[in-house]
Amino acid sequence: MKKPWSGRFKEQTDPFVEEFTQSVSFDYQLALEDIEQNEAHVKTLVKAGVLTEEEGEKLLKELRRLKQLVKEGRFNWRKELEDVHMNVEAYLTERLGPLGKKLHTARSRNDQVVTDERLYVKRAVKEILALLKELRLELIRLAEEYADAVMPAYTHLQRAQPVLAAHYFLAFRELFLKDAERFEDCYRRTDELPLGSGAVAGVDFPLDRFFTASELKFNRLTRNSLYATFERDFIVEFLFCCALTGQHLSRLAEDLIIWNAEEFKFVELPDRLCTGSSIMPQKKNPDALELVRGKTGRLYGNLVALLTVLKALPSAYNRDLQEDKEPLFDSHLTLRDALKATLKVLQGLKLDRERLRACAGNLLLITDLANYLVEKGLPFRDAHEVAGRVTAYLLEKGKRLEELTLEELKRFSPLFDEKVLELLKPESSVERKRVYGGTAPEEVLRQIRVVKAEEGLE
Ligand code: ARG
Repeated sequence: MKKPWSGRFKEQTDPFVEEFTQSVSFDYQLALEDIEQNEAHVKTLVKAGVLTEEEGEKLLKELRRLKQLVKEGRFNWRKELEDVHMNVEAYLTERLGPLGKKLHTARSRNDQVVTDERLYVKRAVKEILALLKELRLELIRLAEEYADAVMPAYTHLQRAQPVLAAHYFLAFRELFLKDAERFEDCYRRTDELPLGSGAVAGVDFPLDRFFTASELKFNRLTRNSLYATFERDFIVEFLFCCALTGQHLSRLAEDLIIWNAEEFKFVELPDRLCTGSSIMPQKKNPDALELVRGKTGRLYGNLVALLTVLKALPSAYNRDLQEDKEPLFDSHLTLRDALKATLKVLQGLKLDRERLRACAGNLLLITDLANYLVEKGLPFRDAHEVAGRVTAYLLEKGKRLEELTLEELKRFSPLFDEKVLELLKPESSVERKRVYGGTAPEEVLRQIRVVKAEEGLE
């Protein structure tokens, strides 16, 4: 097959090199963006007087037909045509003869590829934002369902202090809100049209780039043709947003995996979201969550891969940039599916309220005991010391804090009075955390109202 650049070549491309350099085996995923871009380019060329109205109509008609073929999966991508752009052009040329060959006027694959990619990232961000929103709504629903459930919060994976389960869910909702803000920010910087930048210097024909931008719904134009063709920071940003969101999903998944273990049994995961073992019949494994956790590795890897491709790359376009696509597609699809899987788990999640409450008392209330003494006038360091001695006593006697009598407590400090006994349950502990951002029921209910309003729920 004759290559589009064959004019200056005397030999055929080596078959291995052809295979090595081709990108259509993965950049076919830009097909719809490429067709959309071609449609806008045809209209721009007509407007510039490079094509006649009639020529424009013919090209648009074939592009519509091609779109249909692609959507139905009936288009035959050919590796010898190298990439998605050349496949589209070859199709038009086969259908329309010399007219198809005119389409590449005032355009290079260098501005074409990055236009497709910006369109792709914009679409991907919108999809991820919708899923992040669903996830936040699900977390708010869980917060409301478990608004009154107390549970142990951990630091160093040691039981620390009681919190409301609602507080836990709202914490992750905060993370996913920040993720959404970062994706929106990435979207704003991606929303620039590069087309019209040509190979590196701009193009010779009087293209109305503002018209092309409005056809493709770009908010702005890139302002420098060199920048436009070699910049891939918008993809780096997208990959970073995916990596960070992946980190958040992995932490949520890890908590739920731990809570699902026999030793914790805080949660029950529905059978439909778990898988079994081929050898141990008793097993019900949280594999979906483990994969959400594990896929974070790819999301980080993709980010580092592209950063490394870009390092010290000479200006402007180099073929190295073709390596930006697989990380982009992979992070998009990986994060999308990790979000969907997490959503399913949250929708099916059941917390064991009794078990959570049973684990939220005893030594988790020791800090409250110290604070009680502070309220009675003891400096905090001294109060901490007294409460520490109470802890040692409990551990030695194998007793729980709730079992202590006032007499026993008074042995540690005369400041203890009968009111302290009311403190010795998780509900009293959370009740006292009324500070803004704390876990007191009153405060958490206020937070739920605020986040619902932020999500446009009421
Ligand atoms: N497949 C190429 C890429 O992804 C398209 C641009 C090729 N440009 C070139 N001058 N060879 O980067």
